[in-house]
Amino acid sequence: MTEVIRSADELREKVAGWKRSGMLVGVVPTMGALHDGHLSLARAAREQSDRVIVTVFVNPMQFNNASDLEKYPRDEAHDLALLDSEGVDVLFAPGVDEVYPDGFATTVSVSGITEPLEGAFRPGHFDGVATVCSKLFGMTQAGRAFFGEKDWQQLQVVQRFVRDLNIPVRIIGCPTIREEDGLAMSSRNVRLSATERATAPVLHAVMQAAASDMRAGKPVQTALMDAQAELLEAGFRDIEYLELRTVEGLRPAPDLSQPARMLAALWLGDVRLIDNIAV
Ligand code: PAF
Repeated sequence: MTEVIRSADELREKVAGWKRSGMLVGVVPTMGALHDGHLSLARAAREQSDRVIVTVFVNPMQFNNASDLEKYPRDEAHDLALLDSEGVDVLFAPGVDEVYPDGFATTVSVSGITEPLEGAFRPGHFDGVATVCSKLFGMTQAGRAFFGEKDWQQLQVVQRFVRDLNIPVRIIGCPTIREEDGLAMSSRNVRLSATERATAPVLHAVMQAAASDMRAGKPVQTALMDAQAELLEAGFRDIEYLELRTVEGLRPAPDLSQPARMLAALWLGDVRLIDNIAV
């Protein structure tokens, strides 16, 4: 049975017991509304650790939009049933006061790689992510932490501050899990209408086609502009970015001379979608 723990002290005691028996602890940080993408992380954690903690905390500090925070899907009972079926040991679900008690005054802020892409459109978002992840690493004392590549920039940010601050946790990136039609799994997908859901996989298809055009020699900027036009034509709106960036350092990639990643954020109706692929 997956045990639900809400207090950091109680979790610390449990983890201390595991560690006394020489066990390796893995953590999967999430904001709940779990789907197969999260469960694939829990499975990876299960395979690579002796005990697994999944954290569920909708972190107010990383939302730059109050209505996005309010509308964020929450269903703890369903999450617990899924984690139980995956053999997860602990669901750590602290309240906001447990994570940010009165007088909380510290921010973990990463410069450079947080500035473009998500950072440009969601001011403060990565400060919130880095701060809460530092806290979750401290609270869980995990030796391994599992993150999805779906949030590629987030994965780079977490790897950066863990290295910079010598936090003793190994960060493991796991591949994006997609629906059969190519749509990257996301907790926000449940908010798509039936028509929007039918359109959503076009994003991945257009990105794949642009990547293969680039590999065939089409200039990067032309391929990206053509892809943008196709996305708008398909019914997406407000393309915040569709860019090619270097894998190392997330710098703009003018061509394919270095390993690169194509990253996108855009809107479909009232839902903001992000995706990224290797090129
Ligand atoms: O990717 C997420 O769900 C969140 O950003 C994370 C890593 C759980 C931090 O709140």
